[in-house]
Amino acid sequence: MNNINVGLLGFGTIGTGVFRVFEKNAQLIERRLGASLTLARIADLDITTDRGVTPAAGVLTTDVDEVISNPEIDVVIELIGGYEPAKSFILKAIANGKHIVTANKALMAVHGEEILAAAEQYGVEVMFEAAVGGGIPIISAIKENLCANQFSSVLGILNGTCNFILTKMTDEGEDFAPVLKEAQELGYAEADPTFDIEGVDTAHKIALLSALCFGTRVDFEQVYTEGVTKISALDIQFARQMGYKIKLLAIGKQDEGQIEVRVHPTMIPESYQLAEVDGVFNAVRLSGDFLGPAMLYGSGAGMDATASAVMGDLIAIARNVAAGVGRTSPIMGYCADQIDTLPLKPMSEIVTQYYLRVTTVDRPGVLAQISARLGDHNISIQSMLQPERHEADAVPIVLMTHEACEADIVKALEEIDALDIVQEPTRLIRVENDLG
Ligand code: HSE
Repeated sequence: MNNINVGLLGFGTIGTGVFRVFEKNAQLIERRLGASLTLARIADLDITTDRGVTPAAGVLTTDVDEVISNPEIDVVIELIGGYEPAKSFILKAIANGKHIVTANKALMAVHGEEILAAAEQYGVEVMFEAAVGGGIPIISAIKENLCANQFSSVLGILNGTCNFILTKMTDEGEDFAPVLKEAQELGYAEADPTFDIEGVDTAHKIALLSALCFGTRVDFEQVYTEGVTKISALDIQFARQMGYKIKLLAIGKQDEGQIEVRVHPTMIPESYQLAEVDGVFNAVRLSGDFLGPAMLYGSGAGMDATASAVMGDLIAIARNVAAGVGRTSPIMGYCADQIDTLPLKPMSEIVTQYYLRVTTVDRPGVLAQISARLGDHNISIQSMLQPERHEADAVPIVLMTHEACEADIVKALEEIDALDIVQEPTRLIRVENDLG
């Protein structure tokens, strides 16, 4: 029986998960692959910490070249994360003819083009299913099963940490900080949790999904990114009263040769399937011209689910290696010379509904002043909520607008926040009532 040797870079949480799959499901993998897979080398700077698993003698090494320059190794799994040294290691492994499996969304979203060019040059495969949605097979669904569709939108709840935090804040009324700590202890958060809570991790993922769906480059620096740190219990409560839930939604849309790619807290109607995606779970909702809408749902973070996605890629590559063929489908789902550079719609031009919470004094004429400023900028109010006064001076006025242009909202809020009756900056949350 053929044997395919695999090298692993990075023996952290996900690396340990991958090791456990090798150990537990070796026979199953052989039956599916028709060849054996051997985890021949694992490189990490730290090879002494007890990870609860026991690699055979000689497998662990601190020398990365024993993986990326080892002629015996066919496939390299990169689970170091971050830009460097992961990028240099991957490029060197590619130049040495190794196929790559990576979970590195930051690297693929920001430096993907360089890695793809190298992969084209050396004729190797690069797979990154684990980079988006943990264990959910969303990338292969877009690239393979659904590839006959023209996609108009891809919407996702893509960060387990943020979804876990928002769910706990919604269901149990807990504060932000202790829930973040719990998510970190459960192994969901990135090493630096600012990438999670500031929306950067989600932005990496939607940049990749949009590129895969729409066949375009996405300039990551241009993706509007707003995290969950400013979400308050008050907004969660008002959203609920209006029949909405607040989620950190990643939005990718394509319309008439232009794309929208953005990440921000979003109010979605409670009745939508996406609103029911709670805890560490992720979901991606796609809209294809023949498929119609479809949603994929599953564990979005954590050792086992992510290891499952890594192993799926590994086995797909190993099948090709065993069959003596190289890459059989394009890395980004479109032929490399067919990838467009579609213009990204600026945030100022997006059109959506808005939730506005204005903090003001409670006296006659206040509402008239606020609605006049909105009216001056063509913004129409759909509904309004003013809870009973609890404090002597400050009261929230909650407004839901009809669809409006972001530039008009920004101008109106500048004027509203400059009024002497307004006591703190108005809180804005975008509302998604049309999933396409
Ligand atoms: N920190 C990420 C999350 C892990 O919370 O979803 C998976 O990418």
